[in-house]
Amino acid sequence: MLKILAFAGSARKNSFNKAILKIAVQGAIDAGAKVTVIDLADFPLPLMDEDLEAKSGVPANAQKFKQLMMEHEGLLIASPEHNSAYSALLKNTIDWASRREEGEKPLEVFKGKVAGIMAASPGALGGLRGLVSLRMLLENIGVMVLPNQKAVSKVAALINEQGGIDDEQTIAGLKRIGKELAETMAKLNRQ
Ligand SMILES: Cc1cc2nc3c(=O)[nH]c(=O)nc-3n(C[C@H](O)[C@H](O)[C@H](O)COP(=O)(O)O)c2cc1C
Repeated sequence: MLKILAFAGSARKNSFNKAILKIAVQGAIDAGAKVTVIDLADFPLPLMDEDLEAKSGVPANAQKFKQLMMEHEGLLIASPEHNSAYSALLKNTIDWASRREEGEKPLEVFKGKVAGIMAASPGALGGLRGLVSLRMLLENIGVMVLPNQKAVSKVAALINEQGGIDDEQTIAGLKRIGKELAETMAKLNRQ
């Protein structure tokens, strides 16, 4: 079965991006994919620093995250927009995961993966500008990004008391990202 790793670029407990990710994950599961959802709050890392790396090596959490990356063919990523770009947490995690061990080809951990991306923001653009930079980053490291993406604007007004979203149009748009990812992965996997 095709496997997808899903995570948000926010460590915040009540993250809006974690909320939208959950819905896209359901879309992927409904389309037949197996999805592992992780919380980057469980993978705390120091800021990338090559002196620190030379002294102490790649942190255990980065190795754990990288191992998960290697075990999955697809990615579902929901990232907050911070000053018009994807989050520093997301970049730092990817930077650590990109460090290679002996014998490993450059960016081997990312190459050939397919990703569905989304963002949520209380603002009017829904994190759309952050998705532009996230798409560029992912494609530059060898990840194919689905043409469709989803930015959920004014998200605070859509969140219910349980931290979920009831708006049907928003749910359909997010589930579609998960579904398209699962379907694209299945097509690519066909002999
Ligand atoms: C440093 C910082 C910069 C931000 N810049 C933007 C921005 O450029 N555009 C935007 O829509 N929201 C911006 N926000 C607001 C975030 O969209 C908001 O905090 C959102 O809830 C973060 O996502 P999360 O709920 O998943 O943690 C910024 C927030 C922070 C902390």
